[in-house]
Amino acid sequence: MTTPPTQSPNGSRRVGIAGLGRYVPERRLTNADLEKIVDTSDEWIVQRTGIRERRIAAPGEDTSGMALRAARQALEDARINPEELDLVICATVTGDQPFPATSCRLGKDLGATRAGGFDLGAACSGFVFGSQVAASFIQSGACQKVLVVGAEILSRILDYTDRNTCVLFGDGAGAAVFTTLERAGRGEFLGGSMGMDGGSEDILAQPGGGSRFPATHETVEKRLHYMKMGGTKVFKFAVRVFAQMVQNVLDRYGRDDIGVIIPHQVNQRIIESAMETVGLPMDMVFSNIDRYGNTSAASVPIAMREALEAGRLVPGKLAVMPAFGAGMAWGHLLVRW
Ligand code: COA
Repeated sequence: MTTPPTQSPNGSRRVGIAGLGRYVPERRLTNADLEKIVDTSDEWIVQRTGIRERRIAAPGEDTSGMALRAARQALEDARINPEELDLVICATVTGDQPFPATSCRLGKDLGATRAGGFDLGAACSGFVFGSQVAASFIQSGACQKVLVVGAEILSRILDYTDRNTCVLFGDGAGAAVFTTLERAGRGEFLGGSMGMDGGSEDILAQPGGGSRFPATHETVEKRLHYMKMGGTKVFKFAVRVFAQMVQNVLDRYGRDDIGVIIPHQVNQRIIESAMETVGLPMDMVFSNIDRYGNTSAASVPIAMREALEAGRLVPGKLAVMPAFGAGMAWGHLLVRW
């Protein structure tokens, strides 16, 4: 038996995913519940989005606390102790507060005593971007073990008088532990992509509360601290970049090498349109959008953990994780399980 090389052909260290974890809050907000809050219907929501319910954080529950639960499961799965971590990256747009970074609280509560940490703000692409950063640190030899968490409490920035947005999103957290492939033994990181459609950043945004529109009575009255979105433009953007990312993988590796596509859980119709564009069947997709809605940076790692549990991460086959969202930032993560 030959031992797999520990270095890739370009001389960098090979990287794998040692563990995956997820956490979602207990409370379910169903479409029937939303019918009582805004002018909508279960039929409209299911038909246009595929969403049936989403999870909502309990009062007092915070983003770092949810991230902690997902991280603990990922570390247990990886059989790695928190004090072995070199770096903690928390991808979120709904952190505990503007600063310090949510990863600092997470690292402390986790007991990651040796690690540095920072937050990564790329909205729904945050986990996919963070995973590529983690892999680069390990490839270069700067780090051995890196935790990447995507965690969001979007319910705290949703306007529950705006039916265009409030039906789409939910709360949750997902986590992955990256280390050398030799140590991880699975989930080889093969690369990814990162991009931005600059100039479109107002299509999906939380305008208030930053340095552009600092919090004032006026910004609160204008509801600028809630998420704003131009749904149709986002829809078209998402289908285009999703299809392009999958097509690039198809062109390079071919259809038979792809075991599963785990996209950002955005909207079932967006997923179906993109899959139709590239001519692939929907049974290649892992989706849990009906149960959680769109959880932004948390959606890909939650779905990866559930795909693992469902036996959908097939050893030796590719898993493709395309993500896209506010910014308009997009990117994918490619792993051979
Ligand atoms: N319930 C009932 N009606 C609703 C509704 C809701 N929750 N939300 C919007 N509508 C209405 C609109 O007001 C509009 O009514 P009007 O024609 O009287 O103005 C009508 O439904 C049709 O709206 P339209 O925008 O054409 O619907 P759509 O088929 O494009 O679906 C979205 C709307 C939001 C579901 C869709 O555009 C979408 O999913 N966009 C992407 C959003 C997203 O995923 N964002 C996150 C990206 S990371």
